[in-house]
Amino acid sequence: MMKIIMYTVLAAIVVGLSVGGAHLYKVSKINAKEMAQYEGQGEAVRRLPGRTLIVYYSLSGHTKDIAERIQKMTGGELYEVKTAEEINRYPWFYLTLKKQLKEKNYPALSGKLPDFSKYNTIFVGAPVWWYTVATPMLSFLQQADFAGKKVVPFSTQGSNYGTYFEDFAAAAKNAKIQKSASFNNMSEKYNQAVDNKIAAWINSL
Ligand SMILES: Cc1cc2nc3c(=O)[nH]c(=O)nc-3n(C[C@H](O)[C@H](O)[C@H](O)COP(=O)(O)O)c2cc1C
Repeated sequence: MMKIIMYTVLAAIVVGLSVGGAHLYKVSKINAKEMAQYEGQGEAVRRLPGRTLIVYYSLSGHTKDIAERIQKMTGGELYEVKTAEEINRYPWFYLTLKKQLKEKNYPALSGKLPDFSKYNTIFVGAPVWWYTVATPMLSFLQQADFAGKKVVPFSTQGSNYGTYFEDFAAAAKNAKIQKSASFNNMSEKYNQAVDNKIAAWINSL
């Protein structure tokens, strides 16, 4: 009996690792294909009219990295969405966050909302959590009223942004939603290509 249990567990681990490995391989191919479009010389970034704000939430730094690149290219100002309590990353936190989404129980935030009236264009970015917008950004959107401002959404994710952009648009009150962009987590070798992608996106706004 013990032997059967051991073999079953072993088989489950082997299948899990193979499926995970195949998924990572597939994603790396998709990323390489996308980044090939942006290799080489990047476009000079056109200045956007008026002032630009870049609002972002980031748990592990990927969205922060993209927000900072947008900030450098646009000369805009950064605003970080912060939770009042730190999100505890214990092993099952993925499931806790899934529950928050399911129950629409979003975390309290710290700090004051930015004064949107000062800006012409507002980039807003967050990680994808469970195929939708990360809960701290949903908290932010519950409080924010964009009052006819141009809002440019962006996301970062492993590979699948699900319904992020539809959910974002539904939650961003009175926003004039502009062309969005999503960024898979990439290895450093694509740094320049990611910059070129951001530049091409800003120039298309
Ligand atoms: C709770 C949780 C759920 C996630 N769900 C998804 C998902 O549905 N699809 C995906 O491609 N990546 C998913 N990810 C990966 C993140 O979207 C990705 O790593 C993102 O770039 C993290 O951004 P950050 O470093 O700014 O926090 C998830 C990450 C976490 C923590």
